[in-house]
Amino acid sequence: MISASILSADFSRLREEILNAIEAGADRIHLDIMDGHFVPNLTFGPPVIRSLGKIPCPMDVHLMVDNPEAYIAPFASIGCEVIEVHVEATHHLHKLLTEIRESGCKAGVSLNPATPAATIRPVLPFTDVILVMTVNPGFGGQKMVPEVLAKVAEIRGMIDDSGFDIVLEVDGGIKTDNITGAAKAGATRFVVGSGIFKTPDYHATIATLKENVELAHAIYA
Ligand code: DX5
Ligand code: ZN
Repeated sequence: MISASILSADFSRLREEILNAIEAGADRIHLDIMDGHFVPNLTFGPPVIRSLGKIPCPMDVHLMVDNPEAYIAPFASIGCEVIEVHVEATHHLHKLLTEIRESGCKAGVSLNPATPAATIRPVLPFTDVILVMTVNPGFGGQKMVPEVLAKVAEIRGMIDDSGFDIVLEVDGGIKTDNITGAAKAGATRFVVGSGIFKTPDYHATIATLKENVELAHAIYA
């Protein structure tokens, strides 16, 4: 349910930070891959992830890169469970999602805040995870764009109507004080970076995040 984005972790102790987040209750680890072209920032690639050794929970790769086609095989080979690609970064979305599944990973599709929900309707049968950006991608620690929540609710409806088993995930600016809104809109998986790693007590933070989600789903389900 809570996917910890390591972008705001202390990179000098990356493995320790990841293990601490998992120990504190994070269900998954979210890896933000940026190329300085699709987004105005650079992060890390497969060698850095490989150097972390075995991580005891699923890892999701969020590809914020041009030419994502070139990176499916390298990330699939390091054992990531989900590879998430942006609608805006490819001319051949259906083909790319199919290639991700053929690589043995689950296929995720991500949308920037200004990209309409309708762009992914044709590929629902080929999608395992929908990652709705609640900030413009590129940096951790940004403020959530609240207008995106209407699109989250719209996509929730699309998934439910389709009958496909697709996870609806939100990413960017999610904190203990706004996660309720995202859960109410229908998200079930939440990427949280600075909202965990910039807080003093990861365990208390993740417990509060989960409580708020459960409360929202109990009230609004
Ligand atoms: C934004 C990234 C997000 C982000 C999450 O470009 O895709 O995963 O780093 O970090 P916070 O929670 O700090 O917005
Ligand atoms: Zn991300």
